Amino acid sequence: MKWTNLFRRKIRLLSTLPEAPVQNRFYPVTTTQGEMMGVVAKEGWVFFKNRCPHAGGTFAEHLGNESEVVCSLHRFRYSLQTGQGAQGQGDFLRIYQLIGTDELVEKGA
Ligand code: FES
Repeated sequence: MKWTNLFRRKIRLLSTLPEAPVQNRFYPVTTTQGEMMGVVAKEGWVFFKNRCPHAGGTFAEHLGNESEVVCSLHRFRYSLQTGQGAQGQGDFLRIYQLIGTDELVEKGA
């Protein structure tokens, strides 16, 4: 089944990003939709709320690789490209991408 994001949202970044970020490291940022984590992934900066859709765990501990994030509580995995949960999970994480200096748009395949 193809994963499709029908409802893309735009939000604004209210805090600044580091000038020389380390790839795969999580950076807390403030947005118009609250606190999020930012990480430089394969395609550049991506952002997500630090609350796992499964049961509210956090992604603060970095267990993922460059293409997915892994919850530290039950180890559910989510794509940093689309937000789709790993096969069999049946859930997704909203992922945002930077499209301007301070504007983020929800992304998905
Ligand atoms: S709370 Fe994240 S996998 Fe269960």
